[in-house]
Amino acid sequence: MPSLRQLFLEHIGQTSPSPLMLEIERAEGSFLYGRDGRDYIDLISGVSVSNTGHRHPAVVAAVKEQTDRYLHLMVYGEVVQSPQVRYASRLASLLPPSLGSVFFVSSGSEAIEGAIKLARRYSGRNEIIYFRNAYHGSTTGALSVQGSELYRNAFRPLMPSTTMAEFNSLEAAEMISHNTAAVLVEPVQAEAGVIQPRDGFLEGLRNACNRHGALLIFDEVQTGFGRTGSLFSLFRYKVTPDILVLAKALGGGMPLGAFLSSAEIMSSLTHDPPLGHITTFGGHPVCCAAGLASLEVTVAEDLASRAVMKENLLRNELATMPFREIRGEGLLLAVVPEQPEIIPAMVARAPEYGLMLDYFLFCDNAFRIAPPLTISDDEIRLACRRLKSLYQAVGSRQ
Ligand SMILES: Cc1ncc(COP(=O)(O)O)c(C=O)c1O
Repeated sequence: MPSLRQLFLEHIGQTSPSPLMLEIERAEGSFLYGRDGRDYIDLISGVSVSNTGHRHPAVVAAVKEQTDRYLHLMVYGEVVQSPQVRYASRLASLLPPSLGSVFFVSSGSEAIEGAIKLARRYSGRNEIIYFRNAYHGSTTGALSVQGSELYRNAFRPLMPSTTMAEFNSLEAAEMISHNTAAVLVEPVQAEAGVIQPRDGFLEGLRNACNRHGALLIFDEVQTGFGRTGSLFSLFRYKVTPDILVLAKALGGGMPLGAFLSSAEIMSSLTHDPPLGHITTFGGHPVCCAAGLASLEVTVAEDLASRAVMKENLLRNELATMPFREIRGEGLLLAVVPEQPEIIPAMVARAPEYGLMLDYFLFCDNAFRIAPPLTISDDEIRLACRRLKSLYQAVGSRQ
């Protein structure tokens, strides 16, 4: 009998020559449990997905309740499905009124595609300005606004009329013209290695978009739902976009994406032609039920504020190790070791030390720490003890 690992390599489409290959039997809270009986503290949250931890009881209960009612009924947008409506209304109650219309899809990339189409359709223009080292997803449109030539080059020709600008430079504001449909930006760049916006950067983009009649799109796929210490970064930076893109933690561990705007902007997808954006599974009722339950936990337990308290504890614990820099906010952190060349070994060997760690796509000199926002103080201390042993073991081999 071939092992599960052999079957994984043979039958699962692979994304890289070196997958982690951990065999996980179950997950709970901040822990993944292997088939070998070992536990791994999740310092990644499935890349900013499991903000309320794995299998939060409220999320599991909502999923079970919804599966007892109905699964897929009809393509998105035709039938009144209470999980979708309740979730969209709740999101709207927490966001500025100009983001009160929610178009659900199934992933972050799909939400970016929808946001780009919406901005072009509404403005009647075609250029999208994006930023160096931005990551917005892997579909062709999202790849076209990805700030890394390495990934773009292999798949040309891409979508035309895209222009790259430098993050944190207001040259982007100068680049906006009468042909610019939208400026697309992550308020905090995640895959670039957690780069925060300089004072005035997002505001400058907002003002320039207003001046030129272009739309501002925020990609809060990673920063949303308390991850960076406020429910959404738009509150922290006090800048409201015209279109907001959400995914990852939006589904509470289930696949869900969304783009949000005012009803006026959103309505441009319904005519000339109608069905301007459609999806079969977008806003799946089980995913919306899970996402709403997860959001209620996030709000009730004020996980955004807790993310800041946990960040402080993490920073104190990490200060006892010789790291060069710890960037970021809330529980989206980039840790820069003294010798960045040890990062591949640290990530690869983290499971031996009971940890899940990860890289960033566009930052070679840091590794990611982004645990569930529900992680306890004791779990943080345990994770840091494990990290210290890992760091010593890997560092001493260099
Ligand atoms: C900021 C950002 N936007 C968009 C995406 C794409 O989301 P998905 O992988 O669900 O398509 C990601 C995924 O990592 C992301 O980090």
